[in-house]
Amino acid sequence: MDASTSNSGNPLRAGLATERTAPPCAVVIFGASGDLTKRKLLPALYNLAVSRLLAPGSAIVGFARRPKTDEQFREEQKANVAQFSRRKPIDEAVWSTFASGLHYVASSFEDSHGYVRLRDALERLDRERGTRHNRVYYLSVPPSEFGVILRHLREAGLVADPKHEDDGFTRVVIEKPFGTDLATGEALNQELLSVFDEKQVFRIDHYLGKETVQNLLVFRFANSIFEPIWSREHVDHVQITVAEDIGVEGRGRFYEEAGTTRDVVQNHLLQILSIAAMEAPVAFDANAVRDEKVKVVRALRPIRGLEDVARQTVRGQYVRGTTDGKPVPAYSEEEGVPQDSRTETYVAMKAYIDNWRWGGVPFYLRAGKRLQKRVTEIALHFKPVPHALFAASAGRVEPNVLSIRIQPDEGITLRFMSKVPGPETTLRPVTMDFKYGATFGGAGPEAYERLLLETMLGDATLFARSDEVRAAWSWITPMLEAWRELDPPEAYASGSWGPDAADALLRADGHAWRRP
Ligand code: BG6
Repeated sequence: MDASTSNSGNPLRAGLATERTAPPCAVVIFGASGDLTKRKLLPALYNLAVSRLLAPGSAIVGFARRPKTDEQFREEQKANVAQFSRRKPIDEAVWSTFASGLHYVASSFEDSHGYVRLRDALERLDRERGTRHNRVYYLSVPPSEFGVILRHLREAGLVADPKHEDDGFTRVVIEKPFGTDLATGEALNQELLSVFDEKQVFRIDHYLGKETVQNLLVFRFANSIFEPIWSREHVDHVQITVAEDIGVEGRGRFYEEAGTTRDVVQNHLLQILSIAAMEAPVAFDANAVRDEKVKVVRALRPIRGLEDVARQTVRGQYVRGTTDGKPVPAYSEEEGVPQDSRTETYVAMKAYIDNWRWGGVPFYLRAGKRLQKRVTEIALHFKPVPHALFAASAGRVEPNVLSIRIQPDEGITLRFMSKVPGPETTLRPVTMDFKYGATFGGAGPEAYERLLLETMLGDATLFARSDEVRAAWSWITPMLEAWRELDPPEAYASGSWGPDAADALLRADGHAWRRP
């Protein structure tokens, strides 16, 4: 069996840790003039080539409106790769083989002739480079363009039957947003599934490509000492933080429609939550892992109705303040944002996972822009000791905290109490630290490298499945609806840790947010 077509349950697939070269294929990027292509996709594909994970016969076809020759496309991409690749300078030998596989088709997405030209180009690549009818279509375009592209691909005979992958596979990669609420998410899904089979669809959530998110699976399921304490028996509460210090970075118009909840909570944060809280899968493959993840999202207790939403959620919007000591404008002063915007740039929620493992354990979730620092982490706060053995004068016994830092300063830290050396019994919290950088050296591959490779290999473990997306929207949508009726988001100063109400949310339970 060709490892490239293997997916779930194949014993030949030795898990995600094995280094595997992708089978030769043509990657067609729709929206090839965009920012994602320039900053992420082309540098990632080039780095796969440097790592010898991209088959030498592979090809990349840019598809976009602007007229351009293959040669111009190559030159343009070389400049982009030189600027954005994690490896510098460009390796000329690798680049010349890589560039020979770069092609360009100029067409609008609506013009059926463009797809005929695309088909001709792909067939020529099959003959000349040996791409074996393997195609990956990367839709780096707004969701409103998906429908027309999918329809034309089908009409041009560019979608192969998933049952006959040995004759060449067809896969489609899409980027979030996967809709804006439950109804639009469903409509988008139906549109996709009317042309492709679920196993051909790869929904990118770049957080799943992060090494530290993958390591969370290894930490939990390749060690025996953590799992027994990973539950309501020992965990008092969990905090998940996705904090950014940057603002909306010129994307005001987009952000105004999205807000933090759609931008990062519905996807990145819930993905982290589901991996942190899931049961052990029966195997390390796409279906088994995603079966367990989706159960977590389905078990999230609904937060719906004005009263619950007001009690369990907090929204904020940044106003002027300082970042890195420099004054920064308010969200409402960003380009493309109306002055009276009600869009949240911060959100905090108190969630419960109503299942056997987590019954009664609050999960406090927060995400936001223009916060004091950039940090993504999961922190498990353990229950206090059952009995106060040490006198109050010895110092307060603080509960253990296990924090898993997704970024930056990737690592894992356990906080525990220690005796301060000396004749008196004085207690102080100390930490045991594991740091990726110190142990494994420099930065590993970028998320997009990993995810593009997995797409070519046909392994969807690190991609969102349609039922996960649906479950996430089912949980989020009632909050979005209630917020329309509730007060606007509370102001918080740029460079702070968010609105006061977020602190009050935890204070009411006798807790406090970490200041990581
Ligand atoms: C993106 C959001 O999905 O994730 C951005 O659209 C956000 O608003 C980004 O800044 C964060 O990604 P990372 O990898 O920098 O944490």
